[in-house]
Amino acid sequence: MRRSRAPRVALAACLGSFLLVVFYFQSSLNPAAEDRVIRTTWQGKAGRSPLQALYESDQFEQSSLQAVHQQRRELLSNICNRYTRKRRLLRPDDLRHLVVDDTHGLLYCYVPKVACTNWKRVMMVLTGQGKYQDPLEIPANEAHVSSNLRTLSEYSIPEINHRLRSYLKFIFVREPFERLVSAYRNKFTRSYNTAFHKRYGTKIIRRHRQEPSDKALERGDDVRFEEFVYYLLDPRTQREEPFNEHWERVHSLCHPCIVHYDVVGKYETLVEDANYILQLVGADTTVKFPSSSKTTRTTDDMTAQFFQDISPFYQRRLFNLYKMDYLLFNYSIPSYLRIR
Ligand SMILES: *[C@@H]1O[C@H](CO)[C@@H](O)[C@H](O)[C@H]1NC(C)=O
Repeated sequence: MRRSRAPRVALAACLGSFLLVVFYFQSSLNPAAEDRVIRTTWQGKAGRSPLQALYESDQFEQSSLQAVHQQRRELLSNICNRYTRKRRLLRPDDLRHLVVDDTHGLLYCYVPKVACTNWKRVMMVLTGQGKYQDPLEIPANEAHVSSNLRTLSEYSIPEINHRLRSYLKFIFVREPFERLVSAYRNKFTRSYNTAFHKRYGTKIIRRHRQEPSDKALERGDDVRFEEFVYYLLDPRTQREEPFNEHWERVHSLCHPCIVHYDVVGKYETLVEDANYILQLVGADTTVKFPSSSKTTRTTDDMTAQFFQDISPFYQRRLFNLYKMDYLLFNYSIPSYLRIR
């Protein structure tokens, strides 16, 4: 008796979780759906979760910051409706960039090259139950050790659905080409990044440089930006494997048309947007978002210089590759491009 029941129970559980995933997509199409106010395990100072603090606002009401974030959400949802026809189902593996904070009820989708080290540090402080006080006491490499933070892909499907419905989901984005140049500079122009040189640099040089030297083929440490662009546009690249996360589009890393982000933060207004989130969490007095003083930061002018060497033909193709990120997050076509 017991033996024959087990498979049936398992089957029922599977079907149930499948339906839950479907249910999530339908209910989440309406941002005001009542399931948004489901209580999380966490209660803030005012007895509210961050998600409730955002949507049942009184203290934040009428603030210009709140209006900005509402506009960003609306724009994102309009572009999604206009450009994405097929609604595909999420698989747990699609959620491996969503970092979970069960203590406060937060989901953060990390995008490399958009202050992601500092956000991971802050998430470690928030989830650390007193282990850390100051994000900057956490070494950068430790923030990237995967066992230090949990991602949504590690949970069961019912647990995933519960968190997608009742946690505050946020993401940080950046001007797509500035992010791309930042990734290129960091991974290909710094002598210490030998792993990237070996893994990607040697292949890029082999395929996209005419008459490469033996040394360049062996080391892969002098990839030019132009060659990197050819690599990104080569159909073989994505056929063989997904883009590395440092240059993968936010659209593909964080699925913003399926996961409905409550707050879209921007690198351009990083500290302001980070404080807004910490305020919703009720942690703005206990956690300080690290303000970067990096002088090597990739700027718009620097990005423009890198694109000078790229022909209009390749500029256009590269823009098309990153077009969804431009549209979804309201970035305009860079004025330095010669694609009109
Ligand atoms: C989009 O960007 C433009 C200019 O950068 C700005 O004026 C506008 O308010 C933004 N729209 C939204 C919905 O954020």
